[in-house]
Amino acid sequence: MDKEKKLRSYEWFGKSDKMGFVHRSWLRNQGYPDDYFQGKPVIGICNTWSELTPCNGHLRDFAEIVKKGVIEAGGFPLEFPVMSLGETIMKPSTMLFRNLASMDTEESIRANPLDGIVLLTGCDKTTPSTVMGACSVDLPTIVVPGGPMLNGRFRGECVGSGSFNWLIKEKQAVENYTEEDILEMEIGVARSQGHCMTMGTASTMACMVESLGLTLPGAAAIPAVDARKKVMAQLSGRRIVEMVREDLTLSKVLTREAFENAIKLNAAVGGSTNFIIHLTAIARRIGVELELSEFDTLGSQIPLLVNLKPSGKFLMEDFYYAGGLPVVIREMAEHLHGGCITVNGKTIAENNKKSPNYNEEVITPLSKPLKEAAGIAVLKGNLCADGAIIKPSAASPSLMKHTGKAVVFESIEDYHHRIDDEDLDIDENSVIVLKGVGPVGYPGMPEVGNVDLPEKLLKKGVRDMVRISDGRMSGTAAGTVVLHVSPESSIGGTLALVQSGDFITLDVEARKLELLVSDQELAQRKLNWVAPKPQADRGYVKMYIDHVEQAHLGADLDFLIGGSGSEVSRDLH
Ligand code: FES
Repeated sequence: MDKEKKLRSYEWFGKSDKMGFVHRSWLRNQGYPDDYFQGKPVIGICNTWSELTPCNGHLRDFAEIVKKGVIEAGGFPLEFPVMSLGETIMKPSTMLFRNLASMDTEESIRANPLDGIVLLTGCDKTTPSTVMGACSVDLPTIVVPGGPMLNGRFRGECVGSGSFNWLIKEKQAVENYTEEDILEMEIGVARSQGHCMTMGTASTMACMVESLGLTLPGAAAIPAVDARKKVMAQLSGRRIVEMVREDLTLSKVLTREAFENAIKLNAAVGGSTNFIIHLTAIARRIGVELELSEFDTLGSQIPLLVNLKPSGKFLMEDFYYAGGLPVVIREMAEHLHGGCITVNGKTIAENNKKSPNYNEEVITPLSKPLKEAAGIAVLKGNLCADGAIIKPSAASPSLMKHTGKAVVFESIEDYHHRIDDEDLDIDENSVIVLKGVGPVGYPGMPEVGNVDLPEKLLKKGVRDMVRISDGRMSGTAAGTVVLHVSPESSIGGTLALVQSGDFITLDVEARKLELLVSDQELAQRKLNWVAPKPQADRGYVKMYIDHVEQAHLGADLDFLIGGSGSEVSRDLH
């Protein structure tokens, strides 16, 4: 009995009183034998499966595989659903619901008789949301990333899901793509189960959790349909039972050093800009303070080692065959805190020290990187008092230092309405400024920062321009795009005061983003500024608008920062 008392689930299943009977009896309608309630670690399999989240469509089967592993190791698996966020389907933006899904995860874990957690994740937000929620409870937790789709193939070419759709306007305008062409392309870039197979946000998140030590080694890159992914799921099921016995909780893995490793490894793989906002939110849930500037100081000088779209040429399947993240971790050893413990109980250095590189074109050695100093740069200046970011590896070198005349769009609808107007005063030197797409303003900070260029400029051969917004950019996109401007326009940041015709200077090397308008003129404009009407007056969206923090803080809800542990103060009576 003493041993059983150590398990959290004992408080539900271990007692012989009325409530012990109630907790066990109803569950037994699913056919569990007596011994399942007699001291077996209870493992919650937190499933983001949903047919409305196509990238996670295979996770229902994966839960069964994880259960096999849990049972083999002497645990009692219980699967439960949480809100799933389908990037390509949900409106107006999955980011609006990331925090809601995290609350669902947190409360579902805490309220139930669980000793350890397996998070089944895939599509972009399903990883950070569930990790954030789990952090606020802090039980032993392991992540099983669902894995990328097989490489996209279209007319003999390798094409990346996510990245290719940003070219559709260009293909239609310049290469006269027809509806049939588009239909053929659609299925060609989605050939199998799994998430986007570029180094977009989902792949970035999978690499992030492996870098943090939250997965078994090598888990991130295995394609969803590869048999080895199933083996990984089963082994994760076995391991979480041991983690419960070892009391290896999330906070023991998620140390400050682990976050620093993740920042450096994200730079080395060329991960999405969304990494910043999600990692910051996760850190604040587990009690590690990360400044926005640290993403630059720790990551920007790290060389790019992984040749994947959108920064490079290959796709996640190629990354896996080349050896995956373990190769990058081994190559990066001198930059990392090798002693960080991971979920298998070994350090990150021990796990990855013998990881052969099978293709140096896909993963370059540290001595011969694809690009030097390719991590994300954090900008400061009067246009972004609390910071803004840019991904230099996805930007045009010729635009990294640029001064141009602003062409301002007050909202994304305004942009769509006017961008292809033949009379719009815009050329390749202009700076496109998009307002109203921040956390509060949209609300939910959609991935629209990499807005398409005007058709008339595309036809002239222009392929990139400086674009600035308070929104985010899909990890699958590229361009000279300044994102996450903080404070955002809708709460009266300087971005709100920019007018068409103002000059803006971007200087990435000097980390500057300046609106070339005098302080006196800006003060006058601020006096005349009227805050936009909030987009909702009830329900979750109102709560989100009232409580969401700015991008540089991770855009979490202010009352969700930190955690409440796994204790439940009142009983079910
Ligand atoms: Fe789900 Fe890209 S849409 S990962």
